[in-house]
Amino acid sequence: MTQRKIIIDTDPGQDDAVAILVALASPEDIDVLGITCVAGNVPLDLTTRNARIVCELAGKPEVRVFAGCDRPLGRDLVTAEHVHGKTGLDGPDLPEPTMAMADGHAVDFIIDSLRDHAPGTVTLCPLGPLTNIATALQKAPDIARRIAKIVLMGGGYFEGGNITPAAEFNIYVDPEAADIVFKCGAPIVVMPLDVTHKALVTKDRNDAFRDIGSPVGIAVAQMTEFFERFDKEKYGSDGAPLHDPCVIAYLIQPDLFQGRHINVEIETHSELTMGMTVADWWGVTDRAPNATFMNGIDADGFFDLLTARLARL
Ligand code: BDR
Ligand code: CA
Repeated sequence: MTQRKIIIDTDPGQDDAVAILVALASPEDIDVLGITCVAGNVPLDLTTRNARIVCELAGKPEVRVFAGCDRPLGRDLVTAEHVHGKTGLDGPDLPEPTMAMADGHAVDFIIDSLRDHAPGTVTLCPLGPLTNIATALQKAPDIARRIAKIVLMGGGYFEGGNITPAAEFNIYVDPEAADIVFKCGAPIVVMPLDVTHKALVTKDRNDAFRDIGSPVGIAVAQMTEFFERFDKEKYGSDGAPLHDPCVIAYLIQPDLFQGRHINVEIETHSELTMGMTVADWWGVTDRAPNATFMNGIDADGFFDLLTARLARL
């Protein structure tokens, strides 16, 4: 696999943190042009703080971290401290960051990066609400045809939702933004709850992270230990789903995942099902396919990949 240029758009979040660490540990596959932060799991001042903590944990303070949108396009921000703790990165005791934020707005960085590189060479990796990406598409519609691919974590079909019965958190927080992204015409790969709820950090898998023995391995084990209490209580599952690293793992080893190229629309009107990803899995409409919607994962292969990559940092 050749090296891919990516922008990670994120709201860290312990699972976002693991995704960022795996990307930064994989320079032969992934060139992280920058990290763009958005309000989501916690407000923007904390997601920008947390992204920098993670870069410093990885030993990569030179990574450019940009601040983006501090609220959804047309709604009040909904956050998820009930899952991620009050900082969004509760669990390990990590130092406050000393690296500076990059100058400029995340949305402009996304636009400029897509315009400055050859068409089809920059992949966007949204791991939070889609506000930054949608704002970039609204401000500069020409970028849509320059995007190599959008590989995002969001939505759910067979699993339903995790913030409402119908909606997954990232899509629910800013459904209008998600609607813009899913209609933009760029190739889209979706890692929904249908995949991520099969990527559970069992005790053995978390022990493998901790047994790396490095500050990164220990911090990741502590993050997932914190994060898992919520899902264990809610679903009675074996451990926390590592949602966002599925996006990065797909870039490195796409054959870990299976899905279908189908039509996916976002519900933006019904209060009952707001933010639902209406996935035409069975092809019962004649709506044109616009996304590859994943449903299967080789979970052991996924955790082997994560552990091997995290061990490099
Ligand atoms: C998504 O929401 C956030 O809580 C996680 O970081 C992930 O991106 C899962 O629904
Ligand atoms: Ca996230």
